[in-house]
Amino acid sequence: MAFRLDNVVPWGRNIDEYQKMFMLSDSDMKKRIAGFGDGPASFNYQATKQGFSVTSFDPIYQFTKEQIAERIKKTRVVVMEQMKLNMENYVWTDIKNLDELENRRMSAMKMFLDDFEQGKAEKRYIYHELPSKINLPDNSFDIGLSSHFLLMYTSLGYDFHIRSISEMLRVCRQIRIFPIVDLDAEKTELTENVISYFNKKYSVKIVDTSYEFQKGENKMLIIE
Ligand SMILES: C[S@@+](CC[C@H](N)C(=O)[O-])C[C@H]1O[C@@H](n2cnc3c(N)ncnc32)[C@H](O)[C@@H]1O
Repeated sequence: MAFRLDNVVPWGRNIDEYQKMFMLSDSDMKKRIAGFGDGPASFNYQATKQGFSVTSFDPIYQFTKEQIAERIKKTRVVVMEQMKLNMENYVWTDIKNLDELENRRMSAMKMFLDDFEQGKAEKRYIYHELPSKINLPDNSFDIGLSSHFLLMYTSLGYDFHIRSISEMLRVCRQIRIFPIVDLDAEKTELTENVISYFNKKYSVKIVDTSYEFQKGENKMLIIE
């Protein structure tokens, strides 16, 4: 089935959030990093500006800057309405209120949009849809990240996850996935099954992180 922008709710996080979610140390930041499903996050732009090497992969990168901007504009109100209805499910310490949340997300997505065309020309934003094979050799990256994509959308199913993570592990020496719960921040059988599968051939660890916005989402999975 063709990938449709109408099905995506673009909502990008920034570099501080990525560093906390994935416990990225100063030495991690100096490694070759790939982000899968980075969408409109500003991690790539902000890391590149600081001299680090980040390559982002996402199917939305097939669309133009204007098309992505239009989709962000359309979904912004809907997402904020949903957040207002579900405020008790979030921890309001780092982000203090809805206005701060909206400002932070919109500022991250603006940074992404302003950088998108240049980043695409520099091959920092690559149009790619997991679990397809990536057109790069094995171990092209040291660390591969997935923020708020893999393990969260359980409806994508077990096979999708096994194939996607296997392909990420082909091009990355280590991968980190955050969070490891579903969209309602509930523990899932999918995460348990994925861990059992990769435990047979890889080192698999669950690590507590210093990031928790949705209550219960403070753990990441490391596979290497
Ligand atoms: C909720 S957003 C997360 C964006 C970003 N990682 C962040 O945390 O700010 C999920 C992203 O997954 C992307 N996505 C959806 N299907 C995908 C696939 N098959 N392969 C890679 N990325 C996909 C979407 O386009 C979207 O940008």
